[in-house]
Amino acid sequence: MRVLVVGGGGREHALVWKLAQSPLVQRLYAAPGNPGIARHATCVALATDALDDLVAFARDEGIDLTVVGPEAPLVAGLVDRLAQAGRAAFGPGARAAAIEGSKVFAKGLMARHGIPTARFATFDDPAHARRYCRETGAPIVVKADGLAAGKGAIVCRTLDEADAAVGECMERKAFGSAGTRVVVEEFLTGEEVSFFALSNGRDPFPLAAAQDHKTVFDGDRGPNTGGMGAYSPVASFDAAMERRVMETIVGPTLAALAKEGAPYRGVLYAGLMLTTDGPKVFEFNCRFGDPECQALMVRWPGDLVPLLLAAARGDAWPALAAWPSQASVCVALASGGYPGKYATGLPIEGVDAAARHAGVRVFHAGTALADGRLVTAGGRVLSVTAVAATLQGAIDAAYGAIGEIRFEGMHYRTDIGRRRPAT
Ligand code: AMP
Ligand code: GLY
Repeated sequence: MRVLVVGGGGREHALVWKLAQSPLVQRLYAAPGNPGIARHATCVALATDALDDLVAFARDEGIDLTVVGPEAPLVAGLVDRLAQAGRAAFGPGARAAAIEGSKVFAKGLMARHGIPTARFATFDDPAHARRYCRETGAPIVVKADGLAAGKGAIVCRTLDEADAAVGECMERKAFGSAGTRVVVEEFLTGEEVSFFALSNGRDPFPLAAAQDHKTVFDGDRGPNTGGMGAYSPVASFDAAMERRVMETIVGPTLAALAKEGAPYRGVLYAGLMLTTDGPKVFEFNCRFGDPECQALMVRWPGDLVPLLLAAARGDAWPALAAWPSQASVCVALASGGYPGKYATGLPIEGVDAAARHAGVRVFHAGTALADGRLVTAGGRVLSVTAVAATLQGAIDAAYGAIGEIRFEGMHYRTDIGRRRPAT
């Protein structure tokens, strides 16, 4: 088979690394890829938003399966375009991807079908949004409707913060047209878990849970980032909780999408809060999480391809071997200043030495080659991922390997995998 992976971050490096091990894959391409991905796949210089060029490439190269990493091309309809060209792709079409692309759509779907989520209201008038915030009280969460590169959910501790958040989204247009409408949502408390399930358009297939660490500093302090690290499995997310989430959230959500004429194919990422009232959805994403994907791929039992193909083609599920009891940890190494402004082009040392540590994989996120030298090229630069018999073993292995890596301004959280359950 010929497989194309769309994307060029740590998530896509983990996917490519895993796909490269499949005996079913003869040719592997990535668009645009990165220097780490280039070790396993042929990188083609096509951007993830160059939909016409991606479809033309898949057609001309006879790509049998396109695996779409990021949300933007899914929401923009890349999978529909590939289907029109007769090319199978892993990921939902635009209508189903709206579960991430429009929070108004996702919340409405959950409300119409009784899926547990935070109480909410939607607004296209800032005065009405502010009035609702005052009626409901703080803390409260203001969310831009559309895609906002992970920055569109603003947790407001006070009504002043809520006023400002409404202004940012709706008046100052900080997220462009994505903030024309907002969802104002109840603040949920509990432990946050990212749960992943596949769908072939009809039946769900549970994968596994991971926990992300979204803020930039240790102890869950500082501004939110794309994700500073993740680990899997999550102790509080046991088999009973997984069954409950499949029965009350994932199954009903996929059935609801099918019933509303938008059957879902691909991976559904449920952002869950484990509240005292049971698990509730605070967001759906239409793709694997980054860095959760890195933590999942190093634990994944067996070949990834048959499952992705079944999801893409709408076929019956093949068997997936049981997930190993091994634990994994992924720690993001970020550029100085991230998630704010940061420099790029700084030389990176020690990646190969780190990768020689037992159980460790170094996935590239924001790297580039300059005159043959590996340099920084993004906010999250590398994803150091380790797998071991225990979570503590994986933590020790990941941080041991990080000790080998250096670039100017490099920073990372030192507490990945060590979050205490919320009390
Ligand atoms: P999102 O951009 O939707 O991933 O949200 C970013 C972060 O905001 C999440 O990881 C949560 O920590 C937090 N968040 C979002 N919605 C809620 C909510 N309803 N209650 C509490 N925290 C939330
Ligand atoms: N790790 C969070 C995300 O991928 O959205």
